[in-house]
Amino acid sequence: MKVPSLVLAYLAAHAAGSWTSNLNYRSPSEHHPGLGISLHKVNKRNTPAKFSPSQLNFTHGVASGDPYADSVILWTRISPQYASVDDNSTVSGVVPLYNHGPNLTVSTAPVCVEYKVSETESFDSVQCKGRAYTSSDIDYTVKVEATNLQPFTRYYYQFNVCDSNNTSPVGKTKTAPTVDDHVSDIGLAVYSCSNYPFGFFNAYGNPARKDSVDYVVHLGDYIYEYAGDGDYGYGGSIGRIPKPERIIYTLNDYRERHATYRSDLDLQLSHASFPWIPVWDDHEVSDNTYRDGASELNNTEASFVQDGGVSVDQRKMNAVRAYFEWMPIRQVEMDDNLRIWRSFSIGSLFDLIILDTRQYDRSITDLYWNTDYIHEISNDAGRSMMGSRQENWFYNSLSSSAERGAAWRIIGSQTVFSKVNESAAYGNVNPLDYDAWDGYQANRNRTLQHLTENDIGNNIVISGDSHANWVSDLVWLDHANYSSSSGAGGLGVEFAGSAVSSPSPYGQNITIQNANNASNWLTTHNPELQWSEIYYRGYFELHLNYEEARAQFFGLPTIVTRNPYEISLANFTVKHGENKLARPVAGGMTETGSLKDGQISVSNVTNNTATGEWFVSHFDQEDI
Ligand SMILES: *[C@@H]1O[C@H](CO)[C@@H](O)[C@H](O)[C@H]1NC(C)=O
Ligand SMILES: *[C@@H]1O[C@H](CO)[C@@H](O)[C@H](O)[C@H]1NC(C)=O
Ligand SMILES: *[C@@H]1O[C@H](CO)[C@@H](O)[C@H](O)[C@H]1NC(C)=O
Ligand SMILES: *[C@@H]1O[C@H](CO)[C@@H](O)[C@H](O)[C@H]1NC(C)=O
Ligand SMILES: *[C@@H]1O[C@H](CO)[C@@H](O)[C@H](O)[C@H]1NC(C)=O
Ligand SMILES: *[C@@H]1O[C@H](CO)[C@@H](O)[C@H](O)[C@H]1NC(C)=O
Ligand SMILES: *[C@@H]1O[C@H](CO)[C@@H](O)[C@H](O)[C@H]1NC(C)=O
Ligand SMILES: *[C@@H]1O[C@H](CO)[C@@H](O)[C@H](O)[C@H]1NC(C)=O
Ligand SMILES: *[C@@H]1O[C@H](CO)[C@@H](O)[C@H](O)[C@H]1NC(C)=O
Ligand SMILES: *[C@@H]1O[C@H](CO)[C@@H](O)[C@H](O)[C@H]1NC(C)=O
Ligand SMILES: *[C@@H]1O[C@H](CO)[C@@H](O)[C@H](O)[C@H]1NC(C)=O
Ligand SMILES: *[C@@H]1O[C@H](CO)[C@@H](O)[C@H](O)[C@H]1NC(C)=O
Repeated sequence: MKVPSLVLAYLAAHAAGSWTSNLNYRSPSEHHPGLGISLHKVNKRNTPAKFSPSQLNFTHGVASGDPYADSVILWTRISPQYASVDDNSTVSGVVPLYNHGPNLTVSTAPVCVEYKVSETESFDSVQCKGRAYTSSDIDYTVKVEATNLQPFTRYYYQFNVCDSNNTSPVGKTKTAPTVDDHVSDIGLAVYSCSNYPFGFFNAYGNPARKDSVDYVVHLGDYIYEYAGDGDYGYGGSIGRIPKPERIIYTLNDYRERHATYRSDLDLQLSHASFPWIPVWDDHEVSDNTYRDGASELNNTEASFVQDGGVSVDQRKMNAVRAYFEWMPIRQVEMDDNLRIWRSFSIGSLFDLIILDTRQYDRSITDLYWNTDYIHEISNDAGRSMMGSRQENWFYNSLSSSAERGAAWRIIGSQTVFSKVNESAAYGNVNPLDYDAWDGYQANRNRTLQHLTENDIGNNIVISGDSHANWVSDLVWLDHANYSSSSGAGGLGVEFAGSAVSSPSPYGQNITIQNANNASNWLTTHNPELQWSEIYYRGYFELHLNYEEARAQFFGLPTIVTRNPYEISLANFTVKHGENKLARPVAGGMTETGSLKDGQISVSNVTNNTATGEWFVSHFDQEDI
């Protein structure tokens, strides 16, 4: 980017730091300045008096993400106020802040922060340091790339207000191994669907308390756009009504929503403990979105008025901009403001291919009123979950991963990939979920065909969105002689995880008995579905080495309080080269749900406490 001369003048005058090192000024897409903030304008306006360090607070902890072998993204927010900042504040020097409460005044004065990165918590030897500015223009968020780091190394990092002792909490992060590194064992915690008014985010805290993984992957629905009451949660009864207390549309709405979610102490703990690799699903914008719309919009003039005059594109861009401001992720392509699909090489052990099957270029989805129509067209060859550009990248990424000899390919999908016939399970009327890959059969076939024809094995699809656990052999049905009992004919496996807090798809208050009855129907009628579990909220950990991949599923006994309890629900092994779940699946026994041809032992549901330090009501450095 060509740095405008006024910026240079400013930098010379302040000789202190850099606007451009805060990636959020050019977010989500550097080459589309209309979507970001004009640094030219920022510099031209009259700059009010600076804040004193004591006026500023690190309001939402720290975070890191998108690890490369030599760099990682670091994030914090340093603000003179807790509340998020209205987009109108970019217009002039000082404007009133519309914030659903007492009027606030927002200043456009810049805030300067320093950051440092070290292998030791005492920071006696600093590996990397720098300065960055933030301001109300970007909701006081700070996103910098820490560079010149060593591969596969744990680092500590901390921010402080420039030239002061006002410091952020200390965060921990870890770089990726270099592409050819032989790494013995890597653990991922995999999440989806965290709905604030439905419960506490205990699932995020447990791997931090156990120190059990290296990286965190979030497959989407990190926030929800709903008001948070009625059908959309019981936030009132557990003190978790998210702000603003209505459906969100504007940039400020999305910022405030992220700010509320990020106030959850276990979420802060996870962000401060591990580098995250997140991607959005639909609710980061709104329910059942696709390329041109969403379920609550028919994209008519009437719906435009109903949505406060915010167009689909504008609402999507508000959501996207707030997401990029608040999440510790990279912009991998400066010309494409919607591109979030990207991949990570984790040594010679695996490639992590993160898809955007939702916002980027998805053909029309199930919008509830058109289910029959989507059913009819679900097998049309032209339908795509991600658009041809991303599809080509996806298939090329699979091929180059196999060619470079990476032991595994981990494919991050938002929705469940495998076919799931739910027609008679718990009174369902529609056989398939047309909002998942079942509504885009041709795209699924093209994926399976690419794997089959190029003989690409050791594939593990991880997915979310459904609020339930589904474990399957990855199979091109009707094209392979798949054996449900032996797993022969598989191309890999799929691990689809339950929600952090969003309710069970078969009813928020379903009993464990009814849930397991439904799971029994599902594993009986779906040949490749080996385990179904739809009662528990939770997450899974995926641990990989060159011989095998192990998935451990955890359920949370209760999320109406903040607590560290969890139940080991089931463990699965995939042997390298076998392309199926190792038999007997789950060692022949799971704690609950329905295991095809296996045993369930509901009776001994135990109440394991995640070990490690546990702090109920505060978050500080000791928390990590
Ligand atoms: C910053 O935090 C301190 C201590 O928590 C608090 O007393 C103060 O009011 C906060 N300041 C602002 C501007 O929010
Ligand atoms: C932002 O400014 C515009 C134009 O002045 C105004 O119509 C709109 O209501 C403002 N938005 C908010 C959230 O205050
Ligand atoms: C906030 O500003 C509005 C519009 O200027 C005004 O009507 C209202 O009285 C103000 N509220 C407070 C609490 O100052
Ligand atoms: C930070 O604290 C140390 C120790 O109390 C003190 O010596 C130093 O002057 C302080 N630095 C600033 C910039 O206030
Ligand atoms: C969208 O249009 C369909 C078909 O005209 C109609 O049945 C449905 O009620 C509309 N939905 C909304 C949210 O307006
Ligand atoms: C779902 O399963 C039922 C019962 O076996 C069967 O009748 C129906 O054809 C299946 N539907 C699909 C789409 O596979
Ligand atoms: C995709 O494959 C399935 C079998 O797995 C087949 O029933 C379906 O017709 C195929 N669809 C397309 C568009 O190729
Ligand atoms: C499946 O088995 C049949 C009968 O043995 C054989 O003719 C067919 O080629 C096999 N198909 C595949 C895809 O292996
Ligand atoms: C489930 O139970 C909660 C708590 O008793 C209640 O608020 C909620 O309305 C129930 N949900 C449904 C769908 O019945
Ligand atoms: C787990 O243990 C905690 C603390 O003893 C208790 O509050 C909770 O009810 C238990 N949950 C289950 C499912 O046993
Ligand atoms: C899963 O494995 C862990 C560790 O090996 C073990 O403690 C736990 O009991 C297992 N869970 C089940 C459900 O078998
Ligand atoms: C449940 O208890 C039985 C009997 O004590 C034991 O054999 C079994 O391994 C336990 N199940 C799990 C999943 O831990």
